[in-house]
Amino acid sequence: MKDLTKGKVFLIGAGPGDPDLLTLKAVKALNTADVVVYDRLVSPEIMALVPKGTRRIDVGKQPKCHKVPQEGINALLIDLAAKGLCVARLKGGDPLIFGRGSEEAEELRLAGIAHEYVPGITSAQGAATSTGVPLTHRGLATGVRYVTGHRAKDATLDLDWPSLASEDTTLVVYMGAMNIADIAEKLRKNGLPGTLPVMAIASATTPREKRLVATLNTIAEEMAASDLSAPVLFIIGHVVSLYGEAAAAQPFPDRVAAYA
Ligand SMILES: C[S@@+](CC[C@H](N)C(=O)[O-])C[C@H]1O[C@@H](n2cnc3c(N)ncnc32)[C@H](O)[C@@H]1O
Repeated sequence: MKDLTKGKVFLIGAGPGDPDLLTLKAVKALNTADVVVYDRLVSPEIMALVPKGTRRIDVGKQPKCHKVPQEGINALLIDLAAKGLCVARLKGGDPLIFGRGSEEAEELRLAGIAHEYVPGITSAQGAATSTGVPLTHRGLATGVRYVTGHRAKDATLDLDWPSLASEDTTLVVYMGAMNIADIAEKLRKNGLPGTLPVMAIASATTPREKRLVATLNTIAEEMAASDLSAPVLFIIGHVVSLYGEAAAAQPFPDRVAAYA
């Protein structure tokens, strides 16, 4: 008979990539875990913090090529914890923002496995602080909305476009690289000006970070011509006009040097 009281799963947000952005709680969980189950978005810099002897299981998904299906991940977590192991389930960003953390928690709950969330810095916030582009700013944005730019199994992106096309609100689009032409067109058709600034940020907060500033009119074309590769996030709105003015807009290596 398995003793389900011993094992536990920590559903941990690894943040956008910079290991300095991990919470202390995440680091503690990584240091005490018997096994780390991690996603594609977890940066190599963060994986380097996992103690050498700790078992690692890569369940990372490449776009359109799921390495381990979600059901398999759920079963794996249950199986490991049911063996009495302490499992660090490491996810990019925050586990509860487009991270399926709550789906995994629900399966663990149904299986009677102890689990706990450890929040992470979501990539929108990582990208904002890394580039110096605020998500809200008096006079430019009264709020911010996080939306997905991709639907499961490539279903139509049927977002509430009239509501999203608000010039007063910053729109952050996750997983939108494949559909950015469609997204920009729908936002324009629903009333946003084609001159509205857009910023694409790839691999925010990592040494691989890249940025592209364009407008709703030009973002699709400029993305196609650029060398930005996944993961990419879009910040759409007047706040992007502040890019370059903020002191935080400096490349990653300089920031690290500043800590040294
Ligand atoms: C499945 S979602 C996971 C989001 C994650 N849970 C979070 O809170 O950031 C994957 C998307 O997050 C965004 N993303 C994650 N990490 C990123 C990074 N370091 N730089 C830019 N975008 C990132 C991209 O839009 C990517 O397609």
